[in-house]
Amino acid sequence: LNNGLGLTPPMGWNSWNFFGCNINETVIFETASALVFTGLADLGYNYVNIDDCWAELERDEDGNLVPRKSTFPSGIKALADHIHGLGLKLGIYSDAGFYTCQKQPGSLGYEMQDAQTFANWEVDYLKYDNCFNDKSKPEIRYPVMRNALNSTSRQIFYSICEWGRDDPAKWAGQVGNSWRTTGDIVDKWSSMVKLADENDKWADFAGPGGWNDPDMLEVGNGGMTVEEYRSHFSVWALMKAPLLIGCDIRDLKPETFEILSNEEVIGVNQDPLGVQGRRVKKGSWLRSKLQVWSGPLSGGRTVVLLWNRGLFAANIKATWEDLGLSSGTPVIVRDLWKHETWEGNSVDEIEARVHGRASEMFILTPQTTTQ
Ligand code: DGJ
Repeated sequence: LNNGLGLTPPMGWNSWNFFGCNINETVIFETASALVFTGLADLGYNYVNIDDCWAELERDEDGNLVPRKSTFPSGIKALADHIHGLGLKLGIYSDAGFYTCQKQPGSLGYEMQDAQTFANWEVDYLKYDNCFNDKSKPEIRYPVMRNALNSTSRQIFYSICEWGRDDPAKWAGQVGNSWRTTGDIVDKWSSMVKLADENDKWADFAGPGGWNDPDMLEVGNGGMTVEEYRSHFSVWALMKAPLLIGCDIRDLKPETFEILSNEEVIGVNQDPLGVQGRRVKKGSWLRSKLQVWSGPLSGGRTVVLLWNRGLFAANIKATWEDLGLSSGTPVIVRDLWKHETWEGNSVDEIEARVHGRASEMFILTPQTTTQ
């Protein structure tokens, strides 16, 4: 969507994956502070996004959405002011139906009024869900809220969440800044891998202003090993997915922080070229779990992920042909997780030993002959 936002994929935090409906303003205030004092905000994680369950179950007598008194007594505007004071942005959530998935009022039929409410509260991001709708096509319903948001004077990132039902990549480029391509993530390796594959199909449709969204990060929530979370983060970064942290960052384990704060991997996600990396090779049959994912970066560089989805360690190789580089091109190889640069140049392939259910991630920088 050409509204000046989302020129690189959004980064931040969202309440849903860890807290579900169990949210309140204290959690949001403390999370915003934690983003700042951990340094994650400085690395680009600037959206603090409230998901479902922030509103009263009834609108007020004028039809306005009302923050839940018991859990958000200060109101959303006060939250926004505080969060803006920290240099961060506030996201909120509604639904293109009669109710949200957790039964607070939806915005269908109230698009102008709700968009104005969000703008008055100085909200910066809207996630727009798809529960309890009128069965009309999302490609009809979602533009209504886009128009409503556009008619406010506020720039609001518009996140379409219709779970990939109606092939949103095909129509949402003019409607939203991101669109879910999948159902909800579950904090398991198998779910993460499946979502990566589903999201991969739509790689051609992503770019500055509009991103495929395979759902939020589960890194740190406990259902995967550290190595598995590293793959999750690496492949989300490579696919130019939104990097929305989904754990409790007030209580970050060092290994979780190490993953989320990897500046080199974040750099891949935020690369200004904005091209979604994709699977370029998978072995056949018994070796189909040994995969190469890759994509172009600015400056003629290439990101490569050697991804072992099997249980056993194996060598994975990518040739320059696999990566779309001309054979014989000398490149410098940078390992984004070990933070090391390989000695010498590679000229026609890269190969590494990769643990089971793990990956290795590199940036290849072509060397000109004068160097
Ligand atoms: C469905 C969405 O896909 C989730 O991300 C979350 O927003 C829930 N609804 C909230 O009810």
